Amino acid sequence: MTSTLKNKVVLITGSSSGIGEAAALAFAEAGASLVLGARRQDEGEAVARRIRDTGGNAVFLKTDVTNPAQVQALVDLAESEFGGLDVAFNNAGTDGESGMITDIDDSAFDTIINTNVRGVWNALRAQIPALRKRGGGSIINTSSVLGSRGVAGMSTYVASKFAIEGLTQSVALEVAKENIRINAIAPGPILTAMLENATGGNTDAFNSIVAMGRPGTTDEITPAVLFLASDQSSYVTGHSLPIGGGSKAGFVTS
Ligand SMILES: NC(=O)c1ccc[n+]([C@@H]2O[C@H](COP(=O)([O-])OP(=O)(O)OC[C@H]3O[C@@H](n4cnc5c(N)ncnc54)[C@H](OP(=O)(O)O)[C@@H]3O)[C@@H](O)[C@H]2O)c1
Repeated sequence: MTSTLKNKVVLITGSSSGIGEAAALAFAEAGASLVLGARRQDEGEAVARRIRDTGGNAVFLKTDVTNPAQVQALVDLAESEFGGLDVAFNNAGTDGESGMITDIDDSAFDTIINTNVRGVWNALRAQIPALRKRGGGSIINTSSVLGSRGVAGMSTYVASKFAIEGLTQSVALEVAKENIRINAIAPGPILTAMLENATGGNTDAFNSIVAMGRPGTTDEITPAVLFLASDQSSYVTGHSLPIGGGSKAGFVTS
């Protein structure tokens, strides 16, 4: 599967930790060259350095996905450093402040929507022209199992992930004839800093509500991302792939 990723140029947003970091390492292992973006400079540089230290190609650029010029600069870096762009993994996201809709501030809404929705919007608009120059490519957006179901107290995050599903489907149709595929992954609870923060460190809380009895790991996400990036998924577009131990089908409540 991963052989078709050798020498491909892969851009990842939200590469400084969690799912994005794991994906960066997996793509590098498959022989791809990495263009990595996130806001935290030290963490982001460390991931790129780790790839270079093991003989891979990786550059990092401090990038806030809410800023279209910075997202464009990341795409430009793929072209100047590695000659073009073949794959983009639009993974940057935040769960922000949660709470009942009448209890949270407007600023909480703005942060989540600007990061998760505007961030993917900015990315798609910068990446599609670069993929066209290569004659096609693959984009993967990070949605969530909460991109297709409601959760009390998380309305803004849920709305943002529904929007990513909508962007993925609609834009996939717009560019399908140009050999550009756009898909999403929809993780369930995955052991990362985001889940730690959301549960106050009590990630075991998911053991009883996830059908498989545990949260997942980032290493259980990366094979799906690499599949959607590779030629093995050449007839898959506009799709959202749940990876959640059954949590797309439902949560266990008794
Ligand atoms: N963990 C889960 O249970 C779970 C479940 C479903 C979906 N997801 C989604 O998976 C994605 C990755 O999250 P994770 O679980 O791996 O958590 P994480 O370790 O907190 O990673 C989030 C990543 O997004 C980046 N990011 C956040 N805001 C950004 C911005 N404005 N500009 C650029 N980068 C930004 C962060 O980097 P900086 O802070 O350095 O900018 C970080 O690299 C998110 O889209 C999240 O919604 C996670």
